[in-house]
Amino acid sequence: MTTETAGAAGVLAGRTAVVTGASSGIGRAIAETLGSAGAHVVLGGRTLEPMEASVAAVTGAGGTAEAVVVDVRKVDDVRSLVDRAVASTGRLDLMVNNAGVSFPEPILEADPEHWRAMFETNVIALLAGCQAAVAAMRAAGNGGHVVNISSVAALRPDSGVYGSTKHAVNTITNTLRQELMEDPIQVVTVMPGAVATSFARNFDPAVLAGLAQVGGSTVEMVKGERLSDEVLRGARQALPDHLCGPEDIAEAVLWAVTRPAGVHIAEVVVRPNRDLNL
Ligand SMILES: NC(=O)c1ccc[n+]([C@@H]2O[C@H](COP(=O)([O-])OP(=O)(O)OC[C@H]3O[C@@H](n4cnc5c(N)ncnc54)[C@H](OP(=O)(O)O)[C@@H]3O)[C@@H](O)[C@H]2O)c1
Repeated sequence: MTTETAGAAGVLAGRTAVVTGASSGIGRAIAETLGSAGAHVVLGGRTLEPMEASVAAVTGAGGTAEAVVVDVRKVDDVRSLVDRAVASTGRLDLMVNNAGVSFPEPILEADPEHWRAMFETNVIALLAGCQAAVAAMRAAGNGGHVVNISSVAALRPDSGVYGSTKHAVNTITNTLRQELMEDPIQVVTVMPGAVATSFARNFDPAVLAGLAQVGGSTVEMVKGERLSDEVLRGARQALPDHLCGPEDIAEAVLWAVTRPAGVHIAEVVVRPNRDLNL
């Protein structure tokens, strides 16, 4: 992750950002990218260690960041992230609702607790993040951007229960944009295609083993656990046309929130050259 731009001097100098799901993959890359562009970043996620490493990367490059362990399925935890940002800096400029999970199972055989996990994480937490962030942005009076991480699954009509949560994300984001027409707050939908992250942690073990094998890794993967950096690196090297990197999505987010005033980037689709249809 690039952190060459001294934080305080970057294009987001003086701004404050909250990123959910910042302990891994796309959220982590977004947090580091926004921090390296000068924003003070509040990272929220379940696992502290990688977030502390990201805080060290941002501060090492002259920026500022802080990590908070949260469970975004608890609405109060999402609100506490926004409260922390405001307590630290007196403002909120960027809210990135990124935390998400997928359990790819046939509907007729699925565990209903997995449906609950997907809707609570991908939809309810995002709604809570939007609501808390807009209140904080209005109170600070500086406008801002709400960035909701959706998926290309939202562009297909048959993308399963996970895909239905991302359809909901798109509908919620479009509706929020209408509700905010009179506010200087922009709302951005980002739809990634396949990205090499731990997103696949709940996939079928055979799929995970295939991913490791194609990348030449012998690391054993356990369903439900984060994927190792070695496996992700190997998979990306072996499948450069099928997998983007998390930094590709982070750069799109940075671009979308740094357009001239009056230019509203409503939707961004970032996909690899060849689709995996995740
Ligand atoms: N990778 C892809 O191909 C892809 C494609 C399209 C869209 N997306 C979307 O991109 C977003 C980020 O996913 P990713 O690819 O970066 O996957 P990832 O590496 O698995 O990261 C997911 C992040 O969400 C966090 N999270 C999950 N449940 C949480 C909870 N209850 N409370 C707090 N944090 C929670 C995870 O925390 P821990 O790791 O600490 O548990 C992790 O930081 C998701 O919304 C996903 O749907 C991904």
